[in-house]
Amino acid sequence: MKSDLEELVSVARVARRNAYVPYSHYAVGAAVLAKSGQVYSGCNVENAAYPTSLCAERVAIVKAVSAGERELVALAVVTSNAGSPCGSCRQVFSEFAGDDAVIVLATARGNRRKKSSMKQILPDRFGPEHLQ
Ligand code: THU
Repeated sequence: MKSDLEELVSVARVARRNAYVPYSHYAVGAAVLAKSGQVYSGCNVENAAYPTSLCAERVAIVKAVSAGERELVALAVVTSNAGSPCGSCRQVFSEFAGDDAVIVLATARGNRRKKSSMKQILPDRFGPEHLQ
């Protein structure tokens, strides 16, 4: 049987097929696992007005949160070369993820994997405690 993380990578890989990337040609698929057990996927969606483009990770996270989720425990990202989430996506994920949430990077082909934690990819993060 596939592990939860491998399942998450599979979902991200399928989501990547819908990436709308006429400008960068860099397709990204993402999937988040919520504490509830539900999985939400996303892909990057570019725009002719470049800065309005959306990253795959944030699409998946916003889908989860808009469905009522508030705690995310894992994020899988699939690209051609196991690229890792940009700073903005790390910050947005951190709003809903604990220090030990898992980030797994995978390639669209083959089975290269890189695993890390929320704390590793965004140490000393800015959080709600700074707004007290
Ligand atoms: N991209 C993502 O979807 N996630 C990231 O974390 C990094 C970059 C997208 C944005 C753009 O559509 C393309 O990859 C190239 O930057």
